[in-house]
Amino acid sequence: MTDTSSAPPTGATTEAEMPRVDTAKIQTSQPVADALVLFGATGDLAKRKLFPSLYRLERSGTLHVPVIGVARSDWTDDDFRDHAKESIEEHIPDADPVVIASLLQRLDLIQGDYAAETTWNGLRTKLDEHNSTVAVFYMAIPPSMFPTVAQKLESVGLHNRGRIVIEKPFGRDLNSAIELNKTLHSIFAEDHIFRIDHYLGKEAVEDLLVFRFANTLLEPVWNRNYVRSVQVTMSETIGVEGRGSFYDSVGAIRDIFQNHLLQVVALLAMEPPAGADPGFLQDEKAKVIAAMRPIEPAGLVRGQYVGYREEPGVEPESNIETFAAARLEIDSWRWAGVPWYVRFGKALAQRATEAVIELRSPPRMLFDEEGGPVPDRNLIRLRLGENDGVTFVMQAKTPGPHLDSTGVDVDVDFAAALGERQDAYERLIGDALLGSLRRFARQDIVEGTWKVVQPALDHPGPVVPYFRGSWGPSEADHLLLNDDHWYAPSPL
Ligand code: NDP
Ligand code: BG6
Repeated sequence: MTDTSSAPPTGATTEAEMPRVDTAKIQTSQPVADALVLFGATGDLAKRKLFPSLYRLERSGTLHVPVIGVARSDWTDDDFRDHAKESIEEHIPDADPVVIASLLQRLDLIQGDYAAETTWNGLRTKLDEHNSTVAVFYMAIPPSMFPTVAQKLESVGLHNRGRIVIEKPFGRDLNSAIELNKTLHSIFAEDHIFRIDHYLGKEAVEDLLVFRFANTLLEPVWNRNYVRSVQVTMSETIGVEGRGSFYDSVGAIRDIFQNHLLQVVALLAMEPPAGADPGFLQDEKAKVIAAMRPIEPAGLVRGQYVGYREEPGVEPESNIETFAAARLEIDSWRWAGVPWYVRFGKALAQRATEAVIELRSPPRMLFDEEGGPVPDRNLIRLRLGENDGVTFVMQAKTPGPHLDSTGVDVDVDFAAALGERQDAYERLIGDALLGSLRRFARQDIVEGTWKVVQPALDHPGPVVPYFRGSWGPSEADHLLLNDDHWYAPSPL
């Protein structure tokens, strides 16, 4: 008898072709940093995400460096420490006071105007006091300030003593992204520019690599032969929450769509990387993004929640979108002809990040009886945000005399199965300190994603109102082909 247990099934990826992506191993190609400099230390991002993440790093014993805030605000070191403490206590209610105290003693503040030389000399002196030769310069500041701060670092010779972390969105469109990159490259080498997209730091998002490429079950069906459509929903229940002025100059396409959303689509759609080197992963993402057709205005719906124009900092006649939905097409052998429906919105019915892969119907119901219901299609629901996990919606026999089928969920909740996972910013700050670029965005991918959304930025079309708590404007339904419908994310 022939042993077929190790033979690949017809059409499946062979053992030799299988990628060797070791997501647990952090590859460090640069020296470990000895200081963290936080520009924008008084800002919203620092308050909501960075201080709580620093606390978590301190708690896990992985933070070993001084943290130097830089602020124009008239704050003392003590104000800065009080602010950090408040932020941690607000976001981590059971925070350990001993860990907080240990973190606070790492914090110092350089207060001063960015235009003043004293600010930059003061920063250099402070880094000298700490004998720092490799700092991480984290730019939690408005994107318009990235070039200024990079140039100021160069003016005092600090650009040779560290790497920079810049926050998305990288530019406002394709041309400004190229321009920003040119400026940054005139000062820092590419491997010293860490472009942070915190979705790439989320365990559940990174799990897409493991889920897709460590499960032989999936690869054979993960293509146009078996997949009918793919949907990605990123929904928030909150509105712009005090960030009206920032948001009104950006909008959903630049804030979420071009970066977080297309990065997730790339992970879902890409080919297996050739090996463990982080460059191979970036290469595959770049390829699949290059295969995406730019979104034509007819393939996009922009919405704005009712009440947005009354938010502080928002223009009364604003046409900025707080919702965007599109139908993407990926011109590849794997995906040609499969519609990718994607949507993002603020003030929607439920907070979620979910991908739904809808498989094609079986050719016929094997035992169907006249008048019996047609079985629903199989779904693979990947929850990448709240309640992260996966649900396979399968068909099983409905109890009773007939051979009818009913959808049943085969469900895994990752928190229950795997325990607590790290926070995205905790992992990404840790990576930046270690010098690992693996979870950061590469410039060619950034430019590729801008190319996908550029027509929508050039010819945005009307913005349609929707009510808070809804699933966005009904116009988004017009993007759907055949008898498709939007899947609401799994209930919480
Ligand atoms: P804020 O508007 O809160 O500003 C951050 C800080 O930057 C301010 O506290 C201020 O500090 C400093 N700043 C503001 N304007 C200027 C200026 N013209 N010149 C110099 N410094 C200035 O922004 P966020 O914290 O919300 O965002 C920071 C960065 O992070 C942005 O690039 C944003 O796109 C990105 N981001 C933010 C997220 C969030 O949830 N907030 C999420 C993801 C990315 P001071 O005046 O004291 O120096
Ligand atoms: C940020 C956007 O990048 O991501 C915000 O600027 C958005 O507008 C946030 O609210 C969502 O992140 P998360 O991790 O809460 O889903």
